[in-house]
Amino acid sequence: MDMTTTLIDHTFRKDVRRCFDQQAYALPARWLYDRRGSELFEDITELPEYYPTRTETKLLRDHSADFANAIGKGRAVIEFGSGSSTKTPHLLRAVEPSAYVPIDISGEFLEHSAAMLQDDFPDLPIHPVEADFMKRVELPDAVADLPKLGFFPGSTIGNMIARTSVDLLRFMRETLGIGAQLLIGLDRVKEQQVLIDAYDDSAGVTAQFSLNLLDRINRELDGDIPVDKFRHVAIWNDDYARIEIYLEVQDDVSFSIDGTKHNLISGQRIHIENSHKFGLRDARLMLRAGGWTPLCDWSDERDYFTLILAEAHPYKHAP
Ligand code: AVI
Repeated sequence: MDMTTTLIDHTFRKDVRRCFDQQAYALPARWLYDRRGSELFEDITELPEYYPTRTETKLLRDHSADFANAIGKGRAVIEFGSGSSTKTPHLLRAVEPSAYVPIDISGEFLEHSAAMLQDDFPDLPIHPVEADFMKRVELPDAVADLPKLGFFPGSTIGNMIARTSVDLLRFMRETLGIGAQLLIGLDRVKEQQVLIDAYDDSAGVTAQFSLNLLDRINRELDGDIPVDKFRHVAIWNDDYARIEIYLEVQDDVSFSIDGTKHNLISGQRIHIENSHKFGLRDARLMLRAGGWTPLCDWSDERDYFTLILAEAHPYKHAP
C-alpha cells in the first residue's frame, strides 16, 4: 500500500465518521470516484440524457479554428483532473502545443491516459504530474519557460461550492502564472426537467453511481449498510442554481461501520453531490473573483454548455 492510498483511507474514514457519528449526513463528492465509481461515471457520459460530455466535445471539435486564433500555437497545455483525457485530442489538434501536462490525483489513470495520448501524438512531450490540483501544483521544469494554457473541461468546477471554486481558480492562477490562459467548460442553467433527467436517467446508471458510495463504505470501512434500502434522489435547488444528489433511506435501518453502530430513520437523506449550473454572467464573475479575465466564449445552439477562454492578467488597482 503506498502513501497516497493510506492518506485516502484515512481521510475517507474521517469524512464517513463525520457523516454518521456527528449526524452531518453529508459526504464529499470526491469519494464517488473509486475504480467502480470512475467506470460508472464513464458510462454516465454516454447516456442519452447526459448531454454535457457530448455537447462539450462537439464544441471542442467545431471551434478548433477559433481556438487556434484566440490561443495560438506552441503553448504548454496543462490539464487539471485529466482523468481519461477523452476530450483532450480535439484541443491538442487545434492548438498544436509544445508540451502537455496532465495533472490527476490518480497515478494509475494518469499513466494509462498519457500512454494512450502518446500513441496519437508521438512527437508531443508529455509530462504527467500526480497531484491534488485543489492546491498549487509544482509544474515540471521542462515547461517552466513556456506560455501556458490551463484546460479544465467537463464543468467539474460545478461540483464545488462557490468559495471552493474561487479558491481553486486562484490556485490555478498561481500554478500557471501571469499571462497564462485557461479554457474552462461550464454547464449552463436550463429547463429543469432536462437537468433532472441528466442526473436521474431512465437506465438507472446515475443511481448506481451514487449507491456505489455505500458499497465503497462497506468494502473499505468494514460496513454492513443495507444498500438496497437506499434510493438515489436528484433535485433542483433554484436558490443555489444546482442539482443536489441525495441517498434517501426507505425504511428505519441499523448498520455498523468500523465497529460503530448507527441508526437511521426512514426518509433520512445523505447529501452526496452538488452540480452547479451557470448563467454566463455568473460564470464570468466567478472567473474574475478567481483572478481570471474572460476573453471569449463558445456555446452550442441551445446554450446548454459553454467553453470560456480567460487570461491571468496582473492585478490592477481598482477604483
Ligand atoms: C464530474 N461532474 C462534472 C459530473 C456532473 O455532471 O456534475 C458528475 C456527475 N454526477 C452525476 N452525474 C454526473
